[in-house]
Amino acid sequence: MNKNMQDQLNALKLEMEQAVSKAKTDNELGEIEVKYVGRKGQLTAVLKGLAALDAKKRAKIGALANLIKQDISHAIASKKAELQDASLGTLADAEHADVTEPGIRPPEGHLHLVTVAIREISAIFEKIGFTRTRYPEVDWDYYAFESLNMPPDHPARDEWETFFMDAPVSKKGKMVLTPHTSNAQVRELERGEMPVRMINIAKCYRRQSDATHVPMFHQFEGLYVDKGVAITHLRGALEYFAKAFFGPERKTRLRPHHFRFTEPSFEIDVSCGVCNGTGFGADKQKCRVCKRGWLEIGGAGMVHPNVLKAGGVDPKKYSGFAFGWGVERTYMMKEGMQIDDIRILYKQDVRFLKQF
Ligand code: PHE
Repeated sequence: MNKNMQDQLNALKLEMEQAVSKAKTDNELGEIEVKYVGRKGQLTAVLKGLAALDAKKRAKIGALANLIKQDISHAIASKKAELQDASLGTLADAEHADVTEPGIRPPEGHLHLVTVAIREISAIFEKIGFTRTRYPEVDWDYYAFESLNMPPDHPARDEWETFFMDAPVSKKGKMVLTPHTSNAQVRELERGEMPVRMINIAKCYRRQSDATHVPMFHQFEGLYVDKGVAITHLRGALEYFAKAFFGPERKTRLRPHHFRFTEPSFEIDVSCGVCNGTGFGADKQKCRVCKRGWLEIGGAGMVHPNVLKAGGVDPKKYSGFAFGWGVERTYMMKEGMQIDDIRILYKQDVRFLKQF
């Protein structure tokens, strides 16, 4: 009986050890625990049989049974840990992440070309002390024309194919969608602070649409008024801008022109970046871009005394220069832009916009 019980226990131990080592899940281990060492388990049943033995044997067998119970509990616990390690390992493999791998960039938009151009132009003029201003884009006839030395019905007005607003007429005349940024000149002078160094960038509207014109476009208008301002200052500012915006090798030239609000007046040309101002390409043919070596960028001149007077400034004490150029046109003249139709800027075609 004694010997028998010892064998029985050892056989049970072996059986349990095999069961534990074969177990593949926590659940199986739980079942093994119940089957052998639980309250109604086989090992417990053997221990219950101890009561029938005499004290000496009971102590011996009891000690052995307890040892087996401990061993088996340990075996179960370590198998559990092993299974858990293994499952973490599989998880690590399945959800493997290389934290050193560069991330995937989300698609990123960018500013519209015209916004970029406006920022660039403002920054260039800010460096020589010009402050960006904001004036209305729907304004009185007075600021758009009359105060600029263009009385009602003056034929010079025809150049600005103006949109008039269907709005009540005031002492300052009808309301117009500003056909140029020059409406800012008298408005700025009216502030009564000298000297004036403004750069006004705003939307302009004219009834026109073709490869070089859009009905809504932008201009930037410079105005510098102080004591002793001369044409040389105008030249210097334009030359500075052309070099900063287009590149150090570009030149400017002034061509006589006529505007009612400047005297003398000029049109400003910038040397072509494609043919380097020569007018001829590498193939000795006329340059495809400029044909003459020069690109026309916009108007300028010395502020007319009548304009200064309209702004409350004494033309005997002060003088100034002004210029007004199209933002889109100027930007299109940058080297490598190759935009042959200005309207593409406002088609909102993402394939076009993405290239910049
Ligand atoms: N306002 C003129 C235009 O739109 C340009 C200009 C501005 C000319 C300032 C001279 C001085 O054509």
